[in-house]
Amino acid sequence: MTDVSRTIGVDELRTLFLFERLTDDQLAWLQDRGAVEEVPAGADVYVEGEPATCFFVLLSGTVSMSRRVHGDDVEVTRTGQRGAYGGATQAYLGDRVPQLYPNSLRALSDTSFFALPAADFAEAMRQWFPMAMHLLEGLFFGMRNSQTLVGERQRLLALGSLSAGLTHELNNPAAAAVRATAVLRERVTGMRHKLALIADGRLDGRRLQALVELQEAAVKRAASAPKHSPLEANDAEDQLGEWLDQHDIAGAWDIAPTLVAGGVDAAWLDQIVDAVGPGNLEPAVRWLTYTVDTELLMGEIDDAVTRISTLVAAAKEYSQLDRAPHQTVDVHDLLDATLVMLSGKIPAGVQLRKEYDRGLPRIPAYPAELNQVWTNLIDNALGAMGGQGTLTVRTQRDGDWLVVEIGDTGHGIPPEIRPRIFEPFFTTKPVGEGTGLGLDISYRIVVHKHHGEIRVSSQPGDTRFRVLLPVSEILDGPDLALDVPPAEA
Ligand SMILES: Nc1ncnc2c1ncn2[C@@H]1O[C@H](COP(=O)(O)OP(=O)(O)OP(=O)(O)O)[C@@H](O)[C@H]1O
Ligand SMILES: [Mg+2]
Repeated sequence: MTDVSRTIGVDELRTLFLFERLTDDQLAWLQDRGAVEEVPAGADVYVEGEPATCFFVLLSGTVSMSRRVHGDDVEVTRTGQRGAYGGATQAYLGDRVPQLYPNSLRALSDTSFFALPAADFAEAMRQWFPMAMHLLEGLFFGMRNSQTLVGERQRLLALGSLSAGLTHELNNPAAAAVRATAVLRERVTGMRHKLALIADGRLDGRRLQALVELQEAAVKRAASAPKHSPLEANDAEDQLGEWLDQHDIAGAWDIAPTLVAGGVDAAWLDQIVDAVGPGNLEPAVRWLTYTVDTELLMGEIDDAVTRISTLVAAAKEYSQLDRAPHQTVDVHDLLDATLVMLSGKIPAGVQLRKEYDRGLPRIPAYPAELNQVWTNLIDNALGAMGGQGTLTVRTQRDGDWLVVEIGDTGHGIPPEIRPRIFEPFFTTKPVGEGTGLGLDISYRIVVHKHHGEIRVSSQPGDTRFRVLLPVSEILDGPDLALDVPPAEA
């Protein structure tokens, strides 16, 4: 692969920025331990994942550094800068980390390197720069810890926003159910009194029978009553009110709205006159009004309770509590659950547009974590729109990728901050509002945990975050915590 064809002098070593200010003895030691290696154009200098045995400093030529991402080699840097280095850059950490090459280096032209065995590089670092070593170690292990802590903190934040959203969302139906129950109790009491009046013997058995039948019919009507627009309801109430007035029924204008909501009209009321006779009309109408009213109230309670259980189901789907962490999922279920959880946060001025490709296959995934990704992206989109605009959630297939796109019509990402948005703690929100972790954690989840990608395109009025997930299973990559940024070439 490489061949040693020349030696390097102390004076030449001194010109490399890495070896700046080393003493003559130190340079001589390097000269003694290291060697010049020539690598022909097109050859690998070293390959990612292989045991890291050597530290390389570029003397001449051009190299390309790449990392293996999802089966593809992605170029990280390309440089012809003399003094650029790579290889066993973490040798000084010893066996506390796996000593493997963190990336691959390939010669693009004929190149030469000063090559130093990893063990010698580590020894020189420890002997000559003890203070720098401690700082570097602190940086390395500190970063590793903070990555873990950041992940935990983000989970807490997500839980906080989950419970805040859920509380908000549960509050309305729960309050509605309580209100409806209180009114229902009043109405049932009222019915008991009316029953006493009706049962005082004024109605003969036949008419009582007819009234009971009408009551059954009223219940059916209430169940299938058409939804009126406010205008239609007004007209219908006017008509019924008139009918009630004409038949000398007190409180016509209180009764009419209930009857209209229950689908009762004047023609139907005429049937009551026939059935019970004019003398008993008022108690009969009131009795039937109570019937309709209690039916409607029970319907309201039913709706509220259904809404509550829908929300609880969405919360379960969202949090994936008591589910396996890794499963085959339909992303639409996840997106819908997340949207339900966030529905309280979506302002009235923001339109939600769902463009789902329902034909997409289920994919292997960590659903709870993907929900965090959608939450972060939607939260950012809402933040950028400030209450007005369109939020688009789109799914589609692109080759071997399943794509989830979150689009917003907000102010967009200014080009000058675009390279920084995925950095941890980078935020443009006022102090105390954003942590700047949303995109960092989303990136980790998508890229590291799912071997996917996040792509961004943005201009004012049209910002899109595209999450690309592999359609088929890919074996787990390296441990997240060990995944430090590549050393500079
Ligand atoms: N859809 C978007 N439109 C415009 N700018 C965005 C959008 N998404 C992200 N950004 C920019 O990227 C920055 C970083 O986003 P990130 O989600 O990481 O943190 P944050 O939203 O500021 O804080 P947090 O997520 O903790 O609330 C944001 O502050 C914002 O400037
Ligand atoms: Mg955010």
